[in-house]
Amino acid sequence: MQDSADPVATAPPLRRLDRRVALVTGGGSGAGAAIARRCAAMGASVVVADIDFALAGEVAASIRGTGGGALAHRCDVAAEEQVAALIDRVTREFGGLDLVFNVAGPWLSGDPLAHWSRIVSANLLGTMHVTRQAIEVLKRRGGAIVNVAADAGLGFGAEDRPAYCAAKAGIVRLTAALCYLKDKKIRVNCIAPDMIGEVEDFAAVAVGLALREDFAGRVVLYRNGRASELVDFGDPGFRQSQPL
Ligand SMILES: NC(=O)c1ccc[n+]([C@@H]2O[C@H](COP(=O)([O-])OP(=O)(O)OC[C@H]3O[C@@H](n4cnc5c(N)ncnc54)[C@H](O)[C@@H]3O)[C@@H](O)[C@H]2O)c1
Repeated sequence: MQDSADPVATAPPLRRLDRRVALVTGGGSGAGAAIARRCAAMGASVVVADIDFALAGEVAASIRGTGGGALAHRCDVAAEEQVAALIDRVTREFGGLDLVFNVAGPWLSGDPLAHWSRIVSANLLGTMHVTRQAIEVLKRRGGAIVNVAADAGLGFGAEDRPAYCAAKAGIVRLTAALCYLKDKKIRVNCIAPDMIGEVEDFAAVAVGLALREDFAGRVVLYRNGRASELVDFGDPGFRQSQPL
């Protein structure tokens, strides 16, 4: 595993997102809210989706209060029928979709066994549901998906959270496997933070990643507020394996 130059520092200048539509899951708080606010500040209409409608409503209202376009929608990303209803509403209200940020990713200290299924459903299946439901809409005019994983999914720490590690590792591999969607004009990339820290800094990197037209199927590690691209992350152990 090896880091390359900061992919965001080398990114092209930010451009306006006027007439673009962005969907942010987990947009009611933390990093998701910051991404929603950043997209809106750049001119996008934003759909703030969250399992907690009150939180989503506050973020959407604050965006509208500054002159932006935003709506709040309650959605549990683990429930595919709710995700289908979400995408349906996005297209009805805004006529299309350009950027998707899969940010909803709950975790529980210690990953109690009783919650494994829920943690994997919300993190990994949720990301898959949103991606699957969004593809048909995104490919109409081309777009980007940014999945939020965690460095725990790349083998760094969090051994006390096995379900979370498994789900985030799945998101990393899902991202790489969806590289082929670039042929449908959809770029899928992933950002894997250790600690998010300042949400505005993280949001700048996440939105910058969505706008990298040369990136598809890539994984960006986010550590200490700095992004670096992971290269050669695909199973290095396999390549170094020894006969038993
Ligand atoms: N905070 C960190 O330091 C950190 C570190 C590594 C990875 N991450 C990942 O980054 C992302 C954002 O982290 P955060 O700390 O800002 O998140 P957060 O804990 O603030 O929660 C984000 C939002 O997701 C919503 N949510 C939870 N379950 C949902 C579901 N099933 N459907 C829809 N919405 C749901 C919550 O209501 C919340 O508003 C997550 O994917 C997280 O796993 C965070």
